[in-house]
Amino acid sequence: MAQVLLKSVSKVYPSGVPAVSEASLSVENREFLVIVGPSGCGKSTLLRMVAGLEEATGGEIWIGQKLVNQVPAKDRDIAMVFQSYALYPHMSVFENMSFGLKLRGYGKKEIEQRVREAASTLGIERLLQRRPKELSGGERQRVAVGRAIVRKPLVFLFDEPLSNLDAKLRVQMRMEIHKLHLRLQTTMIYVTHDQTEAMTMGDRIVVMNKGYIQQVADPLTIYDHPANKFVASFIGSPPMNFLSGTITKMKDGVGFSNGRFTLRVVDEMVSPLQAHLNRPVVFGIRPEDLYDKLFITDAPTDCIITSTVELVEPLGAEVYLHLRVGKHQLIARVGPHDRPEVNQDIDLVFDMGKAHFFDPDTEAAIV
Ligand SMILES: Nc1ncnc2c1ncn2[C@@H]1O[C@H](COP(=O)(O)OP(=O)(O)OP(=O)(O)O)[C@@H](O)[C@H]1O
Ligand SMILES: [Mg+2]
Repeated sequence: MAQVLLKSVSKVYPSGVPAVSEASLSVENREFLVIVGPSGCGKSTLLRMVAGLEEATGGEIWIGQKLVNQVPAKDRDIAMVFQSYALYPHMSVFENMSFGLKLRGYGKKEIEQRVREAASTLGIERLLQRRPKELSGGERQRVAVGRAIVRKPLVFLFDEPLSNLDAKLRVQMRMEIHKLHLRLQTTMIYVTHDQTEAMTMGDRIVVMNKGYIQQVADPLTIYDHPANKFVASFIGSPPMNFLSGTITKMKDGVGFSNGRFTLRVVDEMVSPLQAHLNRPVVFGIRPEDLYDKLFITDAPTDCIITSTVELVEPLGAEVYLHLRVGKHQLIARVGPHDRPEVNQDIDLVFDMGKAHFFDPDTEAAIV
């Protein structure tokens, strides 16, 4: 069983930088867990503590039922793939892949067999005699993964392994690592700052910010029910739109008002918002939950706002409309045939069933 358990793990670097604060997390056996967050939020530090390359200054790290805080990296039975690949330039691919096994005293035959097997899994058999400088970026990346596979570790750790590759190759390698996980059925922890990688690869996603874990959940829960405004804005592209305003009583219900307009709150959200009546809130709506009224039949009038088109970005399969409502900017993601003119006013329909509300002080989700 290769469960990884973190209990209130913290890291303060000697310089006084608190890189990770009180991280608690349970990575299940065979799970593909993705850690995502902006640059400097502590992702690599967290991963390096699991690997044993960095000492935790607080908390406990357990790998497969064993407390490993004092266990050196080489004895933790994990393998890590780095962004830089860290291949030995003077060694061939075969030697790079077999080096770790040699150090651990494996016999020649066993090494040969494991390297051939990994090379075949990754489709790099024909590269075994080449040096790293004779390989493309994607091939080097495969060798770095191969070097981890031959170890047959309890847990794989990946630290932004695709960030040196061009966009097309990233998509391809993303699929290959995904497939590799299905085949090997090993616990994997994968760090990235790319939310598309997080959404498409993870069984569960951990969102971090400023050293703190913000939310741990499966991708759809993270997308549909972000725990706070940070998660809501970090996951999703273009990001969620936010408007500040107040929860107000309407003739026959509850609304979100910001002085210029009032949008009716759907019945299911009224009860959690009761405690916020007449108080400020932050309203959030994703770009795909905004529609141009021209393309909608029978939208209720209390979920429509007039907005001015500032920019139209056609992307082929969809169009991004950059809109202004008073001093607020909004982005709507609409169908490919919706092409209003710049400076034109359009009636924007809000799918209020998809609205989010956040507390303006704590930024926690209200509903
Ligand atoms: N060896 C170190 N000594 C002191 N501070 C460090 C060290 N390594 C990282 N830090 C700091 O700790 C914080 C977290 O860094 P970390 O490398 O874990 O972030 P990250 O999320 O991996 O970022 P990126 O996406 O840029 O790789 C940052 O403020 C960073 O400056
Ligand atoms: Mg990093």
